[in-house]
Amino acid sequence: MTAKQMMLAAPYPDDRSTSARWLKRLKAWLMGTPPPRRLPEPVEPVLETAASPSFRATADAVTQDDELPPKRMPGRFGAKNATARIIEAFDSAHPVRQRKDLHGRDDKLDTLFEAVLFSRQHAIIHGARGSGKTSLAQVFGDYADSQGAVVIYTACEATASFAELLRPYLSFIPESAVPFAEKALFAREREALSAEFGPRQVVDLVSRLSPDSQTILILDEFDRVESEAVNSQIATLMKLLSDARVPVQVLLVGIARTLDELILCHPSLRRHLTPIPIGRISREDTHRLIDRGAERAQVRFDEAARAEIASISCGSPYHVQLFCYVAAIETVRRGGEVIDLEATHRGLARAFTIWAMLNHEDADIFDALVADPAQPVDAVERIAREAAVHDSFVGDEADAAIFGAAVRADDRQATRFHFRDGAAPQFLLAKLATRERQTEAA
Ligand SMILES: Nc1ncnc2c1ncn2[C@@H]1O[C@H](COP(=O)(O)OP(=O)(O)O)[C@@H](O)[C@H]1O
Ligand SMILES: [Mg+2]
Repeated sequence: MTAKQMMLAAPYPDDRSTSARWLKRLKAWLMGTPPPRRLPEPVEPVLETAASPSFRATADAVTQDDELPPKRMPGRFGAKNATARIIEAFDSAHPVRQRKDLHGRDDKLDTLFEAVLFSRQHAIIHGARGSGKTSLAQVFGDYADSQGAVVIYTACEATASFAELLRPYLSFIPESAVPFAEKALFAREREALSAEFGPRQVVDLVSRLSPDSQTILILDEFDRVESEAVNSQIATLMKLLSDARVPVQVLLVGIARTLDELILCHPSLRRHLTPIPIGRISREDTHRLIDRGAERAQVRFDEAARAEIASISCGSPYHVQLFCYVAAIETVRRGGEVIDLEATHRGLARAFTIWAMLNHEDADIFDALVADPAQPVDAVERIAREAAVHDSFVGDEADAAIFGAAVRADDRQATRFHFRDGAAPQFLLAKLATRERQTEAA
């Protein structure tokens, strides 16, 4: 990859984060080492670690791997190496870095190219956790970089002030983006920025950039920012950048509410900001994702296993990767050759256990729900599917009550409800599928 100009403005707390460490331990556990302790307190949901890129290091690793000829393992999957290949092929903890691995997002990439690179608009990618926002932002960033743009990426910290958020970006703007005559002035002004500078000072500084350069600031996980004031300052920054026609575009990554809040701050921002909603990938793309992973891992899913994983993931790439991973590991551990429905169901039960360690409150609710013969299983499944696909479901108080505290009413629409953990519905479906298997066996 040509990451000459792409920069990681601040290291994302990949290995430092509690949930990343847990994910590693869980993977070790799945491979047969002793089970980890249950977490005493709810920690960051596992998906937060999905956005844990070290752009250059990991992208290079993937590229190198892709360039190696596939090694054929004799006989069965081939013990240890098979496990390593499965981990690599179905990695639900890291974003996609190459366009060929980004399934079902061509239209979104085209919109981003058109809006940000060519029309020089700001954009916001928004969608549920695990839908692939960071992946899309990174693949786009790589492309923009290859087209000569300066791409600066960071993931936001919850309590950062505006200046703390922006300072790393400003310090990473390379000299090459500043015209020769302005270089000294730019450096002096950047140095002289006050501790808590605001949007106006940023725009004054970057207005010195060469008009034919392009700098793209990617602010991932913007929804984590807690301060309304910072939200409003970012909205002001985008508005001022557009009004002054400065060659700097902001690509925010967040959730739907992020967009609403920004527009509320500056209604006229609508004209300068392209929303890129990220929904589910299609069934065909899900199958391609499974098949490509299987090819890389050198494993084979039978038709029933493939269909079950596609059905339960409901088009969420994160769940597809995780469910394929656990099903393949289950098969390898037992010395099997083909991943079948039984191994898939054992894997789904494991996946539920993994998730339960990170969100034991909701998992306990689902456990009780699925064990209770008085519960309307069909209705539960229908609602879980609707929420898995649309990130919310339409119903009444009685529907919501089935799921207790795991479900919350929408702020604006009385008949709309959300699972408080956006990744939960697929785990509930996994639990239901496992239960059906147990019932059939009994
Ligand atoms: N379009 C896609 N095709 C294949 N895998 C994807 C796609 N989008 C996401 N993934 C995978 O899903 C997981 C979550 O993706 P990520 O981009 O971190 O989601 P988000 O930022 O929305 O939480 C990662 O393992 C990633 O590799
Ligand atoms: Mg992300």
